[in-house]
Amino acid sequence: MRTTRTDLGAPRHGIPRRIRPFNCGILAQWANLKRLNNISRIQNKWRRANCKLKIINKLRHTDRYQNIEFLAMRSFKEYEGREQTYLKHFFLEHYLERVIYNIGSKWKAFTYIDGFSGPWKSDDVDYHDTSFFIASQKLSSAAEGLRKNGKEINIKCLFIEKTRTAFESLKEYTESIDGLEATAINGRFENLIPDIINYIGSSFSFVFIDPTGWTGFSLEKIQPILRLRGEVLINFMYDHINRFIGTTDLSEKSFEDLFGDKKWKARFENLLRNHGDRENAILKLYSDRLKETGNYKYIAFTKILNPKKDRSYFYLINCGKNLKGLLEFREVEQKLFEEQNLVRKSLKHSKQIEESKQSELFGPSETLTKPGLMEEERKVQLAWGKAWLADLINISNTLTMDQILSQALEFPLIWKKDVDNWIFDWASKNHISIQNSTPREKTLKAKHTIKKIKNIND
Ligand SMILES: C[S@@+](CC[C@H](N)C(=O)[O-])C[C@H]1O[C@@H](n2cnc3c(N)ncnc32)[C@H](O)[C@@H]1O
Repeated sequence: MRTTRTDLGAPRHGIPRRIRPFNCGILAQWANLKRLNNISRIQNKWRRANCKLKIINKLRHTDRYQNIEFLAMRSFKEYEGREQTYLKHFFLEHYLERVIYNIGSKWKAFTYIDGFSGPWKSDDVDYHDTSFFIASQKLSSAAEGLRKNGKEINIKCLFIEKTRTAFESLKEYTESIDGLEATAINGRFENLIPDIINYIGSSFSFVFIDPTGWTGFSLEKIQPILRLRGEVLINFMYDHINRFIGTTDLSEKSFEDLFGDKKWKARFENLLRNHGDRENAILKLYSDRLKETGNYKYIAFTKILNPKKDRSYFYLINCGKNLKGLLEFREVEQKLFEEQNLVRKSLKHSKQIEESKQSELFGPSETLTKPGLMEEERKVQLAWGKAWLADLINISNTLTMDQILSQALEFPLIWKKDVDNWIFDWASKNHISIQNSTPREKTLKAKHTIKKIKNIND
């Protein structure tokens, strides 16, 4: 039996990273035995999890359980110290489900690509806290659900990981997957673009780019992926980028790659002058460059905060080519919004209890009822968004709902229900009329056209 030195250091074997030379031999044998046991355990776990999801899918089609949501991922309590990852996985799981159900009615083949798969800082021997586990489980259950509705779809997954040790674990996992075609590749994402394009073929693709920093996915190199008909979800590591952008000449080339533009700095400074706000300027620059490079109709982003501080950690950015995708993105943002509030309030509350050491006296304190940072941000966005839409209607006279939504929903924390409410409110005050609508309609649809009668906010 042979095992490599790097295997020994992998945290999932439960062996400390630093091993003294004299006990290496014994530990090597022990680790290898444990590793072999783990492979069959992972296979069994996968089968059990799959079996559970099959039961869940059956239940889902009964009246009693149809409104209950079943998630492949763990609760946030099991992501202690990395709640931001929990929220990222929460978003991925919910959004992926919507994408697959939407495209399942039109497409016969779907490919999921995870360009930066990990495992990375996983605390779970069965990888329940990794994006590759969550995505594969979700895709497997979605395929089953679609099949039940008479829609046969061929789903395959490609997982890419640069680091050798992480790749070994990833490979073990992909080999244990049943019922889905899954492949793992050891390499750098941006060097594998032709292989990825080849693997996707003519299927609909969903590419998840989840790096640890801002390198490894240069805009120029990933352009062929951005030009596909599918969707791309990028984890934009804002906090890191903000700390390093424009600081040294050394990092300048890496930002040139990120933005795919030699003149990014002049453009950034210009945006800074116009927006005044560094965060908005960085996001606007990257969104504009994505739009230009991939010919996208819209770019939408949503924020994940540092769980313990009142500042942005990263953004999940979605690049899409149809309005349905944008609507779904904001629907999932609503769920994320609630979840993020809950996680942050719960962390704050626990911290207060710990600091005061008087849990019983504390009760459901102000922390739980006071609006959180995201709630405050949404209030500001809503006030701003309503004024923006009023201006747009005032100058355009006539607009279709498609035209309104494809612009309004690009702004974070503005949802379709908000746009509907504003329009119904203005219609009730005779500022506008809603063409092609009946009095019973409670939500607006693509067929509706908004016509100005008199200036809003007169
Ligand atoms: C943030 S972690 C991803 C975590 C994973 N997506 C999840 O949510 O569970 C980034 C992973 O990408 C790997 N990585 C870093 N640079 C890479 C590159 N250029 N190509 C492929 N993988 C890379 C790292 O080793 C790490 O495992």
